[in-house]
Amino acid sequence: MLADPDLSVCVLGLGYIGLPTAAVIARTGARVLGVDVSETVVETVNSGRIHIEEVDLDALVSGVVARGLLSASTQIAPAEVFVIAVPTPFADDHRPDIGYVLRAATAIATVLKAGDTVILESTSPVGATEQVRDLLAALRPDLRLPGLGREADVAIAYCPERVLPGRILHELIANDRVIGGLTPRCGRKALAFYRRFVRGACVTTTARAAEMTKLAENAYRDVNIAFANELSLVADRLGVDVWEVIRLANRHPRVGILQPGPGVGGHCIAVDPWFLVAAAPDDTPLIRAAREVNDGKVTHVVEQASRLIEAYPGAPVACLGLAFKANIDDFRESPALAVAAALARRFGPRVAVVEPYAARLPTAFDGTGARLIDLDAALARCPVMVVLVDHDLFRSVPAEERAGKAVLDTRGIWPDQPRPQPAAAALRLAG
Ligand SMILES: NC(=O)c1ccc[n+]([C@@H]2O[C@H](COP(=O)([O-])OP(=O)(O)OC[C@H]3O[C@@H](n4cnc5c(N)ncnc54)[C@H](O)[C@@H]3O)[C@@H](O)[C@H]2O)c1
Repeated sequence: MLADPDLSVCVLGLGYIGLPTAAVIARTGARVLGVDVSETVVETVNSGRIHIEEVDLDALVSGVVARGLLSASTQIAPAEVFVIAVPTPFADDHRPDIGYVLRAATAIATVLKAGDTVILESTSPVGATEQVRDLLAALRPDLRLPGLGREADVAIAYCPERVLPGRILHELIANDRVIGGLTPRCGRKALAFYRRFVRGACVTTTARAAEMTKLAENAYRDVNIAFANELSLVADRLGVDVWEVIRLANRHPRVGILQPGPGVGGHCIAVDPWFLVAAAPDDTPLIRAAREVNDGKVTHVVEQASRLIEAYPGAPVACLGLAFKANIDDFRESPALAVAAALARRFGPRVAVVEPYAARLPTAFDGTGARLIDLDAALARCPVMVVLVDHDLFRSVPAEERAGKAVLDTRGIWPDQPRPQPAAAALRLAG
């Protein structure tokens, strides 16, 4: 890997993607300025600490901050490479909102100079990189932007991120990268930048192909999870154990069914497929249906859990987990949080939540009377349990500590747990 102590890089957005990226680039010896609109994030990073949960990130950030390689600010400054890693949510109608990206580009325009490279990493709808270019062209008519007919003096590329939370520092370096230049020359400039810290293959293409590739990856995951979730609905209706069916089906040499759950969450898979649907609504019935199946699973689990809870009148209920997936502290678009909050609204103070990655309950629980308790307290006090996240902590509970409990296990982490027999157990509780 190349090290260039003179390279200056500015990363806009210091969240789950931007902060690890900034720190990994700083470790190569480049001088990195992280820019974030949040004063708290900037202060935390400048003090060498982190505001998100990610394996080994704390030591890396404190090290590069102490060596003077990484600093943070709310104000942008000149750099040679700008990396945009700000949020790209969807609006109420599921259409992509690239307002954060355009605001970041507006900030870049104030310091951009000939020779610089601008890279968009935020997951974006097809055409977003061209929109960034058009905005920069409008704000800086003195510069020649790429793909507009004249030889450019600024490079612009799209390079999506495909890291897995919990493994971000490893995957930032090990994963293959797709690099979409607005022109082949832009692609080569961006490639040289990623070669500083990426060990995986760096494959160049057009910006539009790279944008669609990222959306295709997440839609692929969503469609396949929807298939597993749909199977779980059918299995519930037919009284069959879906986990066993999937285990058995996956013995087929050409079948690899994913695991069902309470829905699909997070900032990516639950969001990005909509960007494809918005771009071509008439051509995406499958992708749309997958989104609807996965979102609909939340309602199904709330109804299933409610039936179980109602079968044990007055019994305390523990909801295990709020995060959108195992072993992380990210609750965005989390189906677990949606289910637990719906149960708290319905059953009030009977509901307790166990979430080792939360210091307090999110605002969705305000006014419900639900409490955050630890796993030991839940095992001691709650005869009814709803497993919503497959955190390692929950997996580790042995059968004897769960004996006699009525469990709805939406993640299949306790395959040896007998299915609840509500009538018999209610009699036991009453007795
Ligand atoms: N989290 C993931 O696992 C993941 C994986 C792949 C791709 N992505 C994509 O990466 C992008 C960033 O996601 P994230 O999870 O890091 O988001 P995040 O919310 O964790 O972080 C975004 C940060 O950007 C800051 N910000 C907002 N507007 C800004 C601006 N104009 N200038 C500077 N900072 C600004 C916010 O304050 C926040 O700290 C999104 O497009 C997301 O879809 C995320």
